[in-house]
Amino acid sequence: MNKVIVISGASSGIGKLSAEFFQQQGNRAIGLSRSYPKGKYDYEYILGDLGDKESIEKAVKEIEKLTDHIDVLINCAGIGISGAIEHTTYEEVNSIFQVNVIGQYYITKLLIPLLRKEGHGKIVNIGSVAGELTIPFQTFYSMSKASMHKFTEGLKMELKPLGIDVCSVLPGDTKTGFTDNRHQPKVVEDDLYKDRIKRSINKMEHDERNGMSPMAVVKLINKVIKKKRMPIQVTVGFSYKFLVILGKFLPKRFVNWILAKMYA
Ligand SMILES: NC(=O)c1ccc[n+]([C@@H]2O[C@H](COP(=O)([O-])OP(=O)(O)OC[C@H]3O[C@@H](n4cnc5c(N)ncnc54)[C@H](OP(=O)(O)O)[C@@H]3O)[C@@H](O)[C@H]2O)c1
Repeated sequence: MNKVIVISGASSGIGKLSAEFFQQQGNRAIGLSRSYPKGKYDYEYILGDLGDKESIEKAVKEIEKLTDHIDVLINCAGIGISGAIEHTTYEEVNSIFQVNVIGQYYITKLLIPLLRKEGHGKIVNIGSVAGELTIPFQTFYSMSKASMHKFTEGLKMELKPLGIDVCSVLPGDTKTGFTDNRHQPKVVEDDLYKDRIKRSINKMEHDERNGMSPMAVVKLINKVIKKKRMPIQVTVGFSYKFLVILGKFLPKRFVNWILAKMYA
């Protein structure tokens, strides 16, 4: 393909596999995150913290030194948080939104001039099924990913005349370091919650550890970026696709009743 592809969150999981895959396909992959990938890697890497404005600006300057244009930007970096809303602190909520929402906006905004250069830039935002179906005890993560999906929609409409296309790719449970990296506010079990929080977290962790391979997500990213016109949103895997569609068409009360049975 021979494209310049910038991938945030390329030190592990879906982002790392994407960088390896696209580099091996003959593209030039440039990864970005707070730390270098563990072990060997054969793509360029820039350090940057999406939770920090100055760090994003510095990373973008480094990218500008490396390349005069970008064909594809994959916004893959992200963090998770679990626990009850009542037990989550202001600072914890602030930090997930800084990385999953504000940092995504800011790096994208600063890279748009490079994406415009060739007249056919593409942006893939990694959202989540949890951004469509609210998962109790992961509410702030769901909120942040729902924001990412709205960000895609707004960007897509605004950037179309500039020749840039945008798509959200929504993984479901995927086997990566995400489960261990998820921030867990101190689990406070009290009489009000009984053991609901622990049961919910155990279920989501079990589902992720037994989830799909990150390669399934990479393959879908590869498929959408090859399209002349990308869809607004694609979900990875048939069962998750089905769930997202059901979530859109069934009455919300019924959908949330099922989600509460599963996770709350
Ligand atoms: N795994 C799942 O079940 C699942 C499901 C749906 C959606 N997703 C989404 O898929 C994306 C990739 O997740 P993953 O599963 O591959 O998890 P992962 O292995 O934990 O990878 C997350 C990546 O984000 C980077 N990152 C975290 N905080 C950052 C920050 N402040 N600044 C820059 N980079 C940061 C990490 O690198 P550093 O630590 O080096 O900064 C890492 O490279 C995320 O957006 C996640 O929300 C995952």
